[in-house]
Amino acid sequence: MPVESESTGGEGTGLTSVDLGPADLADGELREATAAGLSLVVARTGDNYVAFETWCTHDECPLSDGWLEGEAIRCACHGALFSLVDGSALEGPAIDPIAVVTASVTTDRRVVADLSTLRS
Ligand code: FES
Repeated sequence: MPVESESTGGEGTGLTSVDLGPADLADGELREATAAGLSLVVARTGDNYVAFETWCTHDECPLSDGWLEGEAIRCACHGALFSLVDGSALEGPAIDPIAVVTASVTTDRRVVADLSTLRS
C-alpha cells in the first residue's frame, strides 16, 4: 500500500525532508510512497534505505514490480537495470536515468528522504 508522506519542514522553512513511512522493510523489500507529488519507491538494501522514482524510463513500467540486485533495481517489464547510487541505466533497453534520492532512518524508525539530494 502506498504511503502518503508529509514534509517535516514547516511552511517557508525551505526544508525538503519528507516522511516515507515506517522503516519496517525486510532486506531487499520495496514499497511505494508519494512525496511532494512524486511517485517513489522505497527500498532497503542491507542496513540502508534508498528512494527512487517509480516509473521506468524505458516504457514507464512501475519499478515497484521489479527487484533489487545489489545496489541496483531491475525492471520487471523488459529487464533494464538502474543504479541506485546515481540513477544511471546500467543495462538496457532503458537509456535515460531514473531519479534517486538519499533516504535515512530516524530514531523513531521512520524512513525520511531528503529531496534536495534528488539526482538522476
Ligand atoms: S519498461 Fe522497464 S525495461 Fe521496459
